[in-house]
Amino acid sequence: VGPASRPVVPAPLIRYHHSMDRWLPFESERLLMREFRESDFDSIRVYAADPEVSRYMQWGPNDKTATRVYLDARLEAQKLWPRPSVEFGVELKSEGRLIGGLRLALQDDEGKTADFGYTYDRRYWRKGYATEAAQALLTVAFERLHLHRVWATCDTRNAGSLGVMRKLGMRHEGTFRQDVWQKGEWRDTHLCAILAKEWARRT
Ligand SMILES: CC(C)(COP(=O)(O)OP(=O)(O)OC[C@H]1O[C@@H](n2cnc3c(N)ncnc32)[C@H](O)[C@@H]1OP(=O)(O)O)[C@@H](O)C(=O)NCCC(=O)NCCS
Repeated sequence: VGPASRPVVPAPLIRYHHSMDRWLPFESERLLMREFRESDFDSIRVYAADPEVSRYMQWGPNDKTATRVYLDARLEAQKLWPRPSVEFGVELKSEGRLIGGLRLALQDDEGKTADFGYTYDRRYWRKGYATEAAQALLTVAFERLHLHRVWATCDTRNAGSLGVMRKLGMRHEGTFRQDVWQKGEWRDTHLCAILAKEWARRT
């Protein structure tokens, strides 16, 4: 996930009836997961411009114009509900500010599988926020949307992201060799996943 511009999916393509349920916003102990707002612009601009944040991503670092395009696309996309790919903000409740973003993308017409991704401002790393937000998202995915399988991927060099997936109890299912062209080179990718029955066993 992150400030790359993704096209808005036209309404006729949306057949994800199960997600008519408006599951956003939701919260965890320290975080509020909600739609992006215009007032989030400066927070997004800071983390999207940080080369460390986008180091293992296909996008970035983003200048102010790219962030403008990104936020405009998100504000446009969120006029639709349901939508197959839901990208949203993570607000730190104690500071009332946006510290990152999360995305849940439903993968099939039946809406039983999905992938997710996340990006956070570097000043807020290593405090458990990515794990906490993703845990709350998986609770929504399995217990509210009744998904069967949720997966995520990361650059094999992205120890932080792999750490988050492992902490969530996701299994490492495989490593793809040079499957993504990223910043002028081919990268290798880990894929981790968790099934509904595994989620139920761990909580
Ligand atoms: C990856 C990222 C989301 C992790 O966010 P975070 O809030 O720091 O993650 P957490 O604090 O929940 O960390 C969970 C576990 O992951 C591991 N981890 C996190 N960051 C790590 C790092 N930089 N190096 C090694 N392990 C790390 C640790 O095991 C950690 O648990 P611990 O702190 O109890 O030891 C954050 O670094 C980030 O936004 N990076 C840039 C964007 C990105 O790479 N997104 C993922 C794309 S696939």
